[in-house]
Amino acid sequence: MTLSSAVEALDALRRSALQRRQSEAIGQFRIAVQVGHCSQSVGAANIAQIFTSSAPDNVYVVEAGCDGYCFEAPQVFVTGPTGKKQFKQVNANDIVGILATIEAGLDGDTDETLDFYSGQRRVALQNCGRLDGSDIDDYLIEDGYQGLAKALGSTAQDVIEEVKASGLRGRGGAYFPAALKWEGVRNQDAKPAYLVVNSEEGEPGIFKDRHLMEGVPHRIIEGAAIAAYAAGAQQAYVYVNAEADLSAKRMHLAVDQAYDRGLLGDNILESEFCLNMEIRRGAGGYVCGEETTLLDTIEGYRREPRLRPPYPTEAGLFAKPTVINNPETLASVPYILANGAKAFSEIGNNGDSGTKLISLSGSVNRPGVVEVPMGTTLRQIVDGIGGGAPFGQTVTALAVGGPSSGLFPASMLDTPIKPGMLHESGVMLGAGGVIVLDNQTDVLDAIRKLASYNANESCGKCTPCREGTPRIVEAIDRLLSEDGSSQDVDELRYLADVVGGASLCGLGQAAGGPITSGLHFFPTRFAEGDGG
Ligand SMILES: Cc1cc2nc3c(=O)[nH]c(=O)nc-3n(C[C@H](O)[C@H](O)[C@H](O)COP(=O)(O)O)c2cc1C
Ligand code: SF4
Repeated sequence: MTLSSAVEALDALRRSALQRRQSEAIGQFRIAVQVGHCSQSVGAANIAQIFTSSAPDNVYVVEAGCDGYCFEAPQVFVTGPTGKKQFKQVNANDIVGILATIEAGLDGDTDETLDFYSGQRRVALQNCGRLDGSDIDDYLIEDGYQGLAKALGSTAQDVIEEVKASGLRGRGGAYFPAALKWEGVRNQDAKPAYLVVNSEEGEPGIFKDRHLMEGVPHRIIEGAAIAAYAAGAQQAYVYVNAEADLSAKRMHLAVDQAYDRGLLGDNILESEFCLNMEIRRGAGGYVCGEETTLLDTIEGYRREPRLRPPYPTEAGLFAKPTVINNPETLASVPYILANGAKAFSEIGNNGDSGTKLISLSGSVNRPGVVEVPMGTTLRQIVDGIGGGAPFGQTVTALAVGGPSSGLFPASMLDTPIKPGMLHESGVMLGAGGVIVLDNQTDVLDAIRKLASYNANESCGKCTPCREGTPRIVEAIDRLLSEDGSSQDVDELRYLADVVGGASLCGLGQAAGGPITSGLHFFPTRFAEGDGG
């Protein structure tokens, strides 16, 4: 297919989206109420409903996803001919006043220059929180699916080369080069090939993929379609966490709309390329995000990792070649195709391309989801974007990268983020969680929480992890009760080493991270417990 025919097919879709928007007599003003899994807990869905039922004819209300500004939820963005305005922590009593402000004409501006936004670079999250999370027309009008049109006008190998040149690595935690995985599947003789979007996101302190699914579901579908085209897959599954109901709802709707517009199904954008996509719900548990466990649960087996090799690229779903990618990885792909590899690779730092979504939580003034260039320091994220610890508290430590990673003391705040290991003691960027701890938190207790999470989530298939992770918790408990001895510290060191070295999957292999980083950075806290 030529590039111009795919682009023309997309242009036609975009024009009809614009016509629909105009002919639906949509008013001058648009209210986007941010309804995400985060803001639902503070009544955002109710706020959206009240706006919809009480807005005058010249006001158009949509439900957007949360743009990461979770700490001010529920948030409402109003745009109109005379300006735009952002309303924060909206409650039902504010609605009459907001509608009156709109009637009087908008003269305000948004807070987009605030530190929270200005330290960020939005690629995967672009327009998240502004676009209607349930309407494909919004995405099409804002130039959505252009990356897919470009891809379909090129050969699969050209797409692979472009993404290789961008330097994009997987954002699920392992940082494997995305295009190499696609090429690996493409080069297999066995057919058919599959693509699986790993939206399990089961680990504590990580909530960025939900933001993508709820706010920009079509960007994930577009990225998945490009990846499938490159890898030669015609069937895709989106594996959504069992508890992420809103994400699943928006993804379902987005998939249906993409079929309706010819962006999924047969002859996408009038090309030869066909792709079917289905949603599958997770089987429950952190280990379901481990890629081979995920495949087994889709096939109906119990949630346990497979032995590797063979790797999923060789024998994955139903023993066929399979690409497994994180939604953030895929949501970065449309930008690369639409703007070129160079534009993406120039965003990062020291050869680490692009941006990273960070789930920022804990003792910080502005918790939420942020997207920053690779190379941004933890200090810029925690103090600059997050606003530091609340008044009266000081940042003492950070739990970076999830339960299988480790802890940094505040003295490591100037560490830049990069794919993989941030420190040889076991601190990794992982999927990008940053939990801020303050002077009121006992760091050994925090390590215990991570260790007990790993012990509870161990699937039990292999002995080192099944037996070793609970022993780690027991040794920490002895130190916390101050009945411990230096033997417990030695045992922890030994267990971290053995569990890490002998376990079957990434859960056990990294379960020593909290211990080794804790012993490295906080040795005196361990010594207090052993009576030393
Ligand atoms: C215990 C465990 C849980 C994981 N959970 C997730 C997850 O929720 N989402 C994800 O994309 N990757 C997760 N991973 C990593 C996946 O196995 C895999 O590397 C990733 O989905 C590949 O996508 P990417 O190359 O785009 O990063 C997990 C790994 C382990 C060991
Ligand atoms: S390392 Fe833990 S989670 Fe992974 S297979 Fe072994 S027991 Fe299961």
